Amino acid sequence: MKFYIKTYGCQMNERDSDAVAALLVQRGHELASGEGDAELLLINTCSVRAKAEHKALGKLGLTTAPNRSKTLRLVGAFGCMVERLGPRLFDKLPNLDFAVGTHRFRALPDIVDRVLAGPEKILAVGENPDGEHAVSEHAVLGVSAFVNILFGCNRGCSYCIVPTVRGGEISRPAREILDELRELAARQVREVTLLGQSVMAYGRAQAVWEAADRSPGGYQEPFARLLEAAAEIEGLRRIRFASGHPSGCTAELARVMGAVPKLCRHLHLPLQSASDRILKMMRRGYSADDYRRAVARLRETVPDIAITTDIIVGFPSESPSEFEATRAFMDEIGFDNAFIFKYSPRPGTPAAGWPDDIAMDEKIRRNKTLLQDQNRRTLAVNEAMIGRTADVLVEGVSPRNPDRWTGRTSGNKIVVFSPEFDMRKGDMIRVRIARAMPQTLYGAVEGSPCEVER
Ligand code: SAH
Ligand code: SF4
Ligand code: F3S
Repeated sequence: MKFYIKTYGCQMNERDSDAVAALLVQRGHELASGEGDAELLLINTCSVRAKAEHKALGKLGLTTAPNRSKTLRLVGAFGCMVERLGPRLFDKLPNLDFAVGTHRFRALPDIVDRVLAGPEKILAVGENPDGEHAVSEHAVLGVSAFVNILFGCNRGCSYCIVPTVRGGEISRPAREILDELRELAARQVREVTLLGQSVMAYGRAQAVWEAADRSPGGYQEPFARLLEAAAEIEGLRRIRFASGHPSGCTAELARVMGAVPKLCRHLHLPLQSASDRILKMMRRGYSADDYRRAVARLRETVPDIAITTDIIVGFPSESPSEFEATRAFMDEIGFDNAFIFKYSPRPGTPAAGWPDDIAMDEKIRRNKTLLQDQNRRTLAVNEAMIGRTADVLVEGVSPRNPDRWTGRTSGNKIVVFSPEFDMRKGDMIRVRIARAMPQTLYGAVEGSPCEVER
């Protein structure tokens, strides 16, 4: 059957969608060229804010309506919102055919077979009885791929639904991850992003290394060891990881990032707020000063590291001066980019029990203020690159302009350029930056593909 997957939410969800696609292809189904072409439509859902759920619910409402497209035979939902709503999802969407939670992806091809064979609807949520989490298969491979290293989250930030819908932390064994990376490299993947909600916690709650495994660099911490081992895989040119937490920015992490050239000079390090009172209420486990020190530690070994962040505005009781403290702190750190979110109470989280007392128009105002600040800051950071060269991993033809190609810098900035010589996806090239826009750099290729790693 031809299937199409529409994905909402984070990188973790993008990875899950590709894993599900791979499992369905293994079962003999075929990836549709677009949504209009699909007989089986799957919606991968996100619960992180009310708006994310509304989007997925709206999409599911349209695609399960009686007047839906005639080609569409089955519509299923999976991911975080399924895990959160469980059977209530069918009350909202009576024509939905099946729904699969975050721990049950492996069963998805079987579920599709069962739904096709009979009239019943299927809901699969909760812990997977066989305890198996990981999927190593990938369906669509480009230059860059996502790889799970740590499932779930143990942090329990007071506002966050992720631990509820994704469960507690489970680290994959290092050997299994490294095998997946080798396989990807053999299939021409040149860049991998190692994924975990609090990725630096890798290997803290479970043993992930076998006694015989050694770290030539002498790294003790499981995450630093994994980065070192991943960098030794031939064919992989770049390694990224997300998301970070200040408590994981140890001296050892700073050391490995400075010492291993394949590790990208970029870190996504969500700040959320720079008010210590709000950070405490958020249960983030650090103060503004801890965050400042974490950044300083990394900048000591990787001076030009690009740091990006997430901020929540309008958290319960956030005062104007606490908001201004966050604003000033963002200037102090000089973030390369930032995602700004309006606080959204998530049912069942501790923060949802506190008054959501910042009015929507004030949340909008704070959101806008930080966005404007950040746009200015991002543009300034990008303009500072004019006249300099950057090593760029070529991703392919620009989606906006077929005459141009795009790639990314080690700091994760998008660069647009005219292709030269027999350029191929996955080449590492050097580009001299000529023009800067808030989200894009433009430049000219210098020389031929080189084996530069950063
Ligand atoms: N695991 C990542 C974040 C995952 S959610 C981390 O902690 O680093 C992505 C972002 O969504 C968070 O960083 C936070 O800024 C935002 N977010 C999470 N819950 C939210 C809520 N209830 N309301 C508004 N924004 C939220
Ligand atoms: Fe949510 Fe906090 Fe875990 Fe991130 S670290 S997923 S914000 S609980
Ligand atoms: Fe990601 Fe949304 Fe789930 S942010 S982990 S898809 S709730």
